[in-house]
Amino acid sequence: MCGIFAYCNYLVEKDRKSICDILCSGLQRLEYRGYDSAGIGIDGDTKKEVVLFKHVGKVAALRKHIAESKIDMSKTFVSQVSIAHTRWATHGVPSQVNCHPLRSDPTNEFIVVHNGIVTNSGELRLVLQKRGYKFESETDTEAVAVLSKYVWDSQPEQRFTFTALVKTVLTELEGSFALVFKSVHFPGEIVTARRGSPLLIGVKTDKKLKVDFVDVEFGSAQDAEKQLDTLAPPAAEGGLLAPPSLGSQTLARSQSRAFMSEDGMPQPIEFFIASDASAIIEHTKRVLYLEDDDIAHVSEGELHIHRLRRNEGQSAVRAIETLEIELAEIMKGKFSHFMQKEIYEQPESVVNTMRGRVNFDTHKITLGGLKQYLPIIRRCRRIVFSACGTSFHSCLATRAIFEELTEIPVSVELASDFLDRKCPIFRDDVCIFLSQSGETADTILAMRYCLERGALCVGVVNTVGSTISRETHCGVHINAGPEIGVASTKAYTSQYVALTLMAIQLSEDRISLTERRNSIIEGLHKLPSQIKQVLESDREIQQLASQTFRGSRSLLIMGRGFQYATCLEGALKIKEISYMHSEGILAGELKHGPLALIDENLPVIMVMTRDSLYPKVQSALAQVTARKGQPIIICNDDDDSIPANARTIRVPRTTDCLQGILNIIPLQLLSYHLAILNGFDVDFPRNLAKSVTVE
Ligand code: F6R
Repeated sequence: MCGIFAYCNYLVEKDRKSICDILCSGLQRLEYRGYDSAGIGIDGDTKKEVVLFKHVGKVAALRKHIAESKIDMSKTFVSQVSIAHTRWATHGVPSQVNCHPLRSDPTNEFIVVHNGIVTNSGELRLVLQKRGYKFESETDTEAVAVLSKYVWDSQPEQRFTFTALVKTVLTELEGSFALVFKSVHFPGEIVTARRGSPLLIGVKTDKKLKVDFVDVEFGSAQDAEKQLDTLAPPAAEGGLLAPPSLGSQTLARSQSRAFMSEDGMPQPIEFFIASDASAIIEHTKRVLYLEDDDIAHVSEGELHIHRLRRNEGQSAVRAIETLEIELAEIMKGKFSHFMQKEIYEQPESVVNTMRGRVNFDTHKITLGGLKQYLPIIRRCRRIVFSACGTSFHSCLATRAIFEELTEIPVSVELASDFLDRKCPIFRDDVCIFLSQSGETADTILAMRYCLERGALCVGVVNTVGSTISRETHCGVHINAGPEIGVASTKAYTSQYVALTLMAIQLSEDRISLTERRNSIIEGLHKLPSQIKQVLESDREIQQLASQTFRGSRSLLIMGRGFQYATCLEGALKIKEISYMHSEGILAGELKHGPLALIDENLPVIMVMTRDSLYPKVQSALAQVTARKGQPIIICNDDDDSIPANARTIRVPRTTDCLQGILNIIPLQLLSYHLAILNGFDVDFPRNLAKSVTVE
């Protein structure tokens, strides 16, 4: 959890106000990752001084706090580095002292921002306390800052390069992290590293770059330790060059000078380090993604990337990519909230998922990312889906069509439970990992568990360049566009579509299923216009929210077959943003317990669109009404067998296995309106963050 942002300008003059604005705007874009407190660390009036601003609450409160301070906002900096953070608490309550940047000591010698969890922070804290170091916060991150000072202090002649120092610190850390370090001992330098949490670096310069990649310099943890003992004073090049005595094992080598103008002269350049591209895109589209165990160092307008350890087969360059997303895509446009915008984007986002992949004339599906793996998947003995939350529901929603079309047994696992059980996985299993962010810690751990056991791992993600998309053998991007609202909406429907496409493509060698496949493809063709039709019932659903559900304490949503996932997903939406207890119930289980809850007061929604299980859901409806329940029924617009006095939400009819895509939309809208009616912050529900990068 948490969002990291850092800014480095070299030969680009900025006043302090502009630097603070850049930092706060970057943080605001990352607020979906956490928003209980925010802070920045910037240069003071002298190069040997670092100033911290921290505030509990959202970034807007931090902005106000900075504006009210007495610091000279007009002071200019030709070159400087600054770091920033928006927090979602894991260790320690949201408070000023627990807010990042965390510092090594009251004079801010080392300051650190962190996303992730350092699992051995308790042990580190004890060791450091025994050596006389003091702690002021309850955070795991503070141990990283204090450890940095300890490593610095442990070298009496203090001859470390910043990279070597950080490398030494990292070798002591367990857990997951994206970290950025700033220090009064290395003015104008910044070091950032990742293991398990995302990080990318944006590069902005007017001049043409001589290279479009950054070499990775390999060194081992032992090299770092060796530096502790043997490092000579920094060379004249400003500390970037390690002494010749370390030979080819050095941590920083001159040939890694990655950025320079074609004429070789120093050039103005800016770097933006962030947890994701949304914070960078307004400044530059040229980015490079860091890999696990990469350590990036920026100094004097140069970026160097080092490795903590060498991974066999890993690329030795980090290419500078051009981001494809537009800033407009991550703005709210005419909508009041990102969630509302994203609900309304669904006619378009499902088209984007299908774009270039479905030929509606020939009824052919082509998922390029899976092409060469199709024979392996078709031959596998089992398909195992792993995901969390909404992504898990999209797997449940499509399991039946996967089983029907592929005739391969499919299991659907909550990633955390899958790991808790240490589920047996074999080389002839195919494991599919669903994740909007591609950064969910539980899903990543499940993926690595399956990779270790030799299974073919397939990623289905929305975020290009995310950990899951990089570490799986193959996969599909759902192309739903950035999803900013914490409650997932368009990613769900796009995941649903992507998985359905995958099931169809896997079954294309089965002639007997041609008709079934064609009817689903026809259904997909009509989907965007049908979603638009459902969205037209928004006002009606808004009224339902205010007249029927407002003030209710609980809501049951029932259905079966393809619609069980709709019930679970609808209930999750209502819980997470309207804070109302809500439960998705498999209608077949009604008489095994939940029926006891039914009376004339308990709000119930029944999802009973037409499919082969319709008669069974009708009998569940009869059981509910016999107990004086007065359910609201989500049904097809042409269904005339619904009791005349029943309140209904009508949706167009589509192929049975796609109906869940249309049925979830009224529930997304209902949850949105309930949250608005209660005055809740729709895009930032309490206690939740968009990307759950901790276990
Ligand atoms: C709910 C929601 C979460 C996520 C879950 C997994 O609206 O968004 O339940 O679905 O945290 O996240 P991803 O899909 O990013 O792995």
